[in-house]
Amino acid sequence: MEYSPNTDFLALALRQRRQKLANLINFPVLLWSGGKISRNYPANTFPFRASSHFLYFAGLPLENAVIYLKDGKLELFIDNAHPSKTLWQGETPKREEIANRIGADAAFPLSDLESRVRNAATIAVQDYSTLLQQSQLLDRPLPIAKSPNGIDLELTKAIISLRLTHDRAALAELRQATAVTVEAHKAGMAATSKAKNEAGIRAAMESKIITENMTFAYPSIVTTRGEILHNEHYHHPLQKGDLLLADVGAETAMGWAGDVTRTWPISGKFSPTQRAIYDVVLAAHDACIAKMLPGVEYVDIHLLAAQVIAEGLVDLGILQGQPDDLVEMDAHALFFVHGIGHLIGLDVHDMEDFGDLAGYQEGRVRSNRFGLNYLRLNRTLQPGMLVSIEPGFYQVSGILNSQKNRLKYQNVVNWDKLEQFADVRGIRIEDDVLITETGTEVLTANLPTHAEEIEQLVNGCGIEIK
Ligand code: GLY
Ligand code: MN
Repeated sequence: MEYSPNTDFLALALRQRRQKLANLINFPVLLWSGGKISRNYPANTFPFRASSHFLYFAGLPLENAVIYLKDGKLELFIDNAHPSKTLWQGETPKREEIANRIGADAAFPLSDLESRVRNAATIAVQDYSTLLQQSQLLDRPLPIAKSPNGIDLELTKAIISLRLTHDRAALAELRQATAVTVEAHKAGMAATSKAKNEAGIRAAMESKIITENMTFAYPSIVTTRGEILHNEHYHHPLQKGDLLLADVGAETAMGWAGDVTRTWPISGKFSPTQRAIYDVVLAAHDACIAKMLPGVEYVDIHLLAAQVIAEGLVDLGILQGQPDDLVEMDAHALFFVHGIGHLIGLDVHDMEDFGDLAGYQEGRVRSNRFGLNYLRLNRTLQPGMLVSIEPGFYQVSGILNSQKNRLKYQNVVNWDKLEQFADVRGIRIEDDVLITETGTEVLTANLPTHAEEIEQLVNGCGIEIK
């Protein structure tokens, strides 16, 4: 069935993306949205999340849908729900309605795919049963998305070049995701004095996100064990002297992500040692954002954070030596154990299903250096990129107590001094930074970073409960 063009904001934006893709490649493309994955019986499923590459060109989180893109045109393949499904799912939109919404040029049932499509480039999806369908229809094996070949590799590069910088429609979504993420963090701080355990704070934060009909861009990290970078346990009771690290991000219904971390004292007041380290991490955060500009290398922003952290730790007597030399020998990485951040977009680590093809500019590869190996993004900054800036300080027993590190860094760490900072397990401060033509716009700037302001929010001051 053929359609006349839909001219609303979403349909127009999607059409522009498809036209831009057509300008970059000269072969057709098939993208699958993927399907639900079952838990113990078919109708009990994990929450569905459409493939981000599908979402980028089709806009809606459709299940079991396929789009065929050629010369800027889109054909949608999707089945209408069987009438028996209405008992369980109610009425669902019909193919024609969906096609109109996303500005499709034509729409067909899935059974027409085989006769209408011969050869096309594609991106391997994550769910196995859809991956099998892709491979069967295209009649070729499909390696996972980070190792594409031939036209699939050309398509991957074209998609990366489009998704690296955000258009107006994407930014409208990202602004919503980041705004709700900010509110979730304020709610978490406000809930701290009454919460019994980490789960209580998580509930307050996620409730804010759910109330806005959004979901989570990744599993929430809400923990007093901030040194466990992706801790997903929430049972620890809250002790007065602990810090709480919350890394929580909202995802809009269309799939766009926010990603924010704050660290706050359970008691509402940082101890002197916690405050000293917090200010070092904040100095790194602020220095990085102040230096970001189109044309700047992201790896230099990472190294700047390393330098500021090394300087701060020397001032506190934890590290000994010249900060430049300490960074050169990766001594900062004993504490700042990961990279300064990553791309943000339809995924929280945007396009990392492509491995380093998206994060690393062509010709660049990950360093083997302890202090650089976890850097997920090594590109020149361009207007329209959204990246996280998330310096941190962690006391990870496996790193600090490894014999190799104890030996290598025996003269540059004052281990006795470090013991005085035992109440600092992990601190991270993370914001989402948009690169503009002239500098940056911090999309999450409405969430304070300064220690006193954080204390005020935890103590219930300055909060507007919405
Ligand atoms: N927010 C999770 C991460 O950036 O790894
Ligand atoms: Mn992040």
